Amino acid sequence: MSDRTVAVVGATGAVGRAMVSILTQRDFPVGRLRLFASARSAGLKVETAWGEVEVEDLETADPAGIDIALFSAGGARSRQYAPAFAGVGAVVVDNSSAFRMDDRVPLVVAGINDHAAKDHEGIIANPNCTTMTMLMGVAPLHRAAGLKRMVASSYQAVSGSGKTGVDELSRQVRFFQADEEALNDGTWKDPGGEVYPRPIGFNVLPIIGSADPHGYTDEELKLLNETRKILEAPDIQAESTCVRVPVVTGHGTSVALWFERPVSPEEAVELIADAPGVQVWLDKVPTPLDAAGIDDVLVGRIRPTLDGLGGLNIWTVGDNLRKGAALNAVQVAELLR
Ligand code: A2P
Repeated sequence: MSDRTVAVVGATGAVGRAMVSILTQRDFPVGRLRLFASARSAGLKVETAWGEVEVEDLETADPAGIDIALFSAGGARSRQYAPAFAGVGAVVVDNSSAFRMDDRVPLVVAGINDHAAKDHEGIIANPNCTTMTMLMGVAPLHRAAGLKRMVASSYQAVSGSGKTGVDELSRQVRFFQADEEALNDGTWKDPGGEVYPRPIGFNVLPIIGSADPHGYTDEELKLLNETRKILEAPDIQAESTCVRVPVVTGHGTSVALWFERPVSPEEAVELIADAPGVQVWLDKVPTPLDAAGIDDVLVGRIRPTLDGLGGLNIWTVGDNLRKGAALNAVQVAELLR
């Protein structure tokens, strides 16, 4: 692959910054790096492995000459600008949900369905962070035994809401620590927040976003729909509850799985251990703190279901900014050579 002009759109955000550092760490063949953000950040100078790069205003910049554009500036920006970037010849790897369920857009988890990346028409979608980290553990089992049904509960970190989510958690933790007794006796005061509707400090929020008339959130439906598309298995049944937890980085998912045939924990360990990008931990339970900052997704607590039907309960945890977002986007770009 000759050196390309690579753009990161949303370069000042949590995922955008991770994209730049992962391009560097993986020695991605970048000829020229261009960084885009809002007018607020335009003109900011960023030191990179490819020299100092000035952040450009997405609204006014000219995308001509860009070969690969990694987008992570929110769905509205993707819908507005990704087609224009693709229109002048860039291949866009889009981290938002804007195009994920579009039939013309491949939805790719590197290491699971790499082949799908070839059929793009200028835009490739990066899956939802929870779906992607969970599937790193689930896909090897599906390939061997055919997944029929799953029940998933996620434990999602605040960095999934961007830098503002992390700031809100930190501020609320400090606020509550000033009077910890109030957390026991119920006299706590509302710390106020802009990102989450209820306090996330010392709390969990068992709803992410708003629910549809049936009571399900977008995040929960993404888990079902994206799983079916990525695994090319439209008949998989999935139940899900997505929960925000006061963790900075690392999305965990507890998932019960049933297959076309029984799968023993021993077989599951072998299948997952043989798959790329995922580790099975047997001696220690993997936690978000273990997963933060590393590329591999961690899987533990592999147990047979209690119903005697040959299913499995597993726990997966992965860095939502890396495999759940920026790393996968760069890995998808690597597939384009
Ligand atoms: P900016 O820092 O200039 O607001 P995060 O998800 O961590 O909050 O990051 C969001 C990213 O998307 C940031 O890089 C942010 O840039 C960018 N962004 C947000 N709104 C716009 C916009 N209207 N145009 C271009 N980039 C935007």
